[in-house]
Amino acid sequence: MRDELKRGFASDNNAGIHPDVLTAMQNANIGHCIAYGDDIYTQNAIIKIKEHFGKEIDVYFTFNGTGSNVLALKMLTESYNSIICAETAHINVDECGAPEKFTGCKLLSIPTENGKLTIEKIKYHMHGFDFEHHSQPKVISIAQVTEMGTVYTQNEIRDITDYAHKNRMLVHMDGARLCNAAVNLDISLCEITADVGVDVLSLGLTKNGAMNAEAIIFFNKKISNNFKYYRKQGMQLASKMRFMAVQFTTLLSNDLWKKNAKHANKMAKILAESVAEFPRIQITQKVEANGVFAIVPSEIIPRLQEKFFFYMWDEHKSEVRWMTSFDTQQQDIEKFVFLLRKLLK
Ligand SMILES: Cc1ncc(COP(=O)(O)O)c(C=O)c1O
Repeated sequence: MRDELKRGFASDNNAGIHPDVLTAMQNANIGHCIAYGDDIYTQNAIIKIKEHFGKEIDVYFTFNGTGSNVLALKMLTESYNSIICAETAHINVDECGAPEKFTGCKLLSIPTENGKLTIEKIKYHMHGFDFEHHSQPKVISIAQVTEMGTVYTQNEIRDITDYAHKNRMLVHMDGARLCNAAVNLDISLCEITADVGVDVLSLGLTKNGAMNAEAIIFFNKKISNNFKYYRKQGMQLASKMRFMAVQFTTLLSNDLWKKNAKHANKMAKILAESVAEFPRIQITQKVEANGVFAIVPSEIIPRLQEKFFFYMWDEHKSEVRWMTSFDTQQQDIEKFVFLLRKLLK
């Protein structure tokens, strides 16, 4: 295999498509069907999503996670509102300012040790209500899994949603890795979203083995009123929707989502346990999903990256992020550890 095609630990987005998903797309590739979602594949996918998240939801597919986040936030806000999120949040650092551009809202970010918001931290921004000189806090956005690879418990989410609702605010969840969180907690997808009071979810299955399966799920239909127009204006309405739809149906059937997420999480655990033999490597976050954060001697990082690509997380601390995915093999980890032994001896 060419070096650049070897499996590394850069991102679950670097992985390919699960073979069952690809087969489903191939099987959907017959004849014509109505475009823009008015087709049987899309209807079936929505039925499947409702089996997981409850019947009273409103679902819209989008092209990517950024599009989901931005449009979800757009539906919850007016331009004079603000959105509270972790400093490390994807919406804050990895979306090129798209949430600010398309919602007009101010993002109020909060430094965290582990990517998680708490009420204590959120309170810092809870002021200026009804004061026209301040943006009005309206949404708390949390990521499950967080960008630091940690997972909110149900109680932690419930505390945040209760607090938000008491303050006439709403909760958005960035669920780009929701499956990894659910298997970590050993609960259903509904139990960490609708059941704990989340208002709107950006559901991502792309990192779970899809080619591009992203959706916005509204748990409160009042909020999604007229959303279809915003999706079109937001350039996230796919014409050949059937090919997105079958990806959802496939991953959400026969527990494939669970199998893929369990595997990715297990590989991250093995990777973290394997590097524990090196006193010069320090794991910096709890390994609760498919990411491992570690401080690694800076001089060996370029040598490691030559063979196994991954990203620096924090250059100043020499902290790296290693991600595993549904297709990571135990052998990949063994080879990586073998190289670490050579470089660290
Ligand atoms: C936490 C999180 N949210 C959302 C996304 C989705 O982003 P994209 O627009 O690249 O699909 C990602 C992708 O890396 C992510 O890590």
